[in-house]
Amino acid sequence: MPTLTNAVVLVTGANGGLGTEFVRQAFQYGATKVYATARNPRDWEDERIVPLALDVTDSASVAHAAAVASDVTVVINNAGAANGSSLVGTDLVGARALFETNFWGPLMVANAFAPALKAHRGVLLNVHSVLSWLALGDSYSATKAALWSATNTQRLALAPAGVHVAGLHLGYADTPMTVGVDAPKLDPADVVRDAYRGIEAGEYEILADDLSRQVKAGLAAPITALYPQLADLQPVPAGE
Ligand SMILES: NC(=O)c1ccc[n+]([C@@H]2O[C@H](COP(=O)([O-])OP(=O)(O)OC[C@H]3O[C@@H](n4cnc5c(N)ncnc54)[C@H](OP(=O)(O)O)[C@@H]3O)[C@@H](O)[C@H]2O)c1
Repeated sequence: MPTLTNAVVLVTGANGGLGTEFVRQAFQYGATKVYATARNPRDWEDERIVPLALDVTDSASVAHAAAVASDVTVVINNAGAANGSSLVGTDLVGARALFETNFWGPLMVANAFAPALKAHRGVLLNVHSVLSWLALGDSYSATKAALWSATNTQRLALAPAGVHVAGLHLGYADTPMTVGVDAPKLDPADVVRDAYRGIEAGEYEILADDLSRQVKAGLAAPITALYPQLADLQPVPAGE
């Protein structure tokens, strides 16, 4: 069974809302050391926490972190961004940039740390979203859907080596990413608690809220159940 007892945890995007919780709560579950990685690492004033520079979009930075932190047993692929970009239209620059951060970045991190995780029969947690299963977030949804698919591939590839690969899904949480969002939000502390408990329970998919559970369950329904706005659409006559 995957465990956090005596774990050496590495958190990407450690300065963010969920990242900070992942760093701090790791010790409650028995971790002995945490690499708190960030583009601009900060001093945590705790000798158990090792600040480490890591930009997930920079292959040299990822390789350096993997070389320094070869004792890692748990990787929390948490870093992510939202930039308001769209898949619809001719300018895909923003969407491509978001894929670098939310898809290619975590993929590079997972691959760079795979040798350490295999050596320690460790754990990889990829932070997805309820929007992995719901396209309302436009390009953000696409990045999280792609990451969800990659997580499934990684799980199959790493399971024979004893590495547990889990994915975390959640709706809005109260972090800097959602500052402009006027909607009910989860407490990041609750999300991270569920994530760590899910890891210890050996879960593959950790659903942190009812919204994620409802949307996941709805995937088997006709597409108009997830997107009711499609059901009432009247086709626009050609030329309009
Ligand atoms: N908050 C929500 O409602 C919500 C819902 C579902 C999923 N999520 C996911 O949860 C994860 C954590 O997000 P959050 O809510 O905690 O947001 P946040 O507070 O904005 O934290 C995101 C962190 O990711 C870091 N980051 C961005 N680009 C990076 C890069 N290239 N390399 C390294 N780090 C980078 C940021 O670093 P800087 O400090 O350097 O900018 C920031 O610390 C993300 O993957 C997000 O997509 C969030």
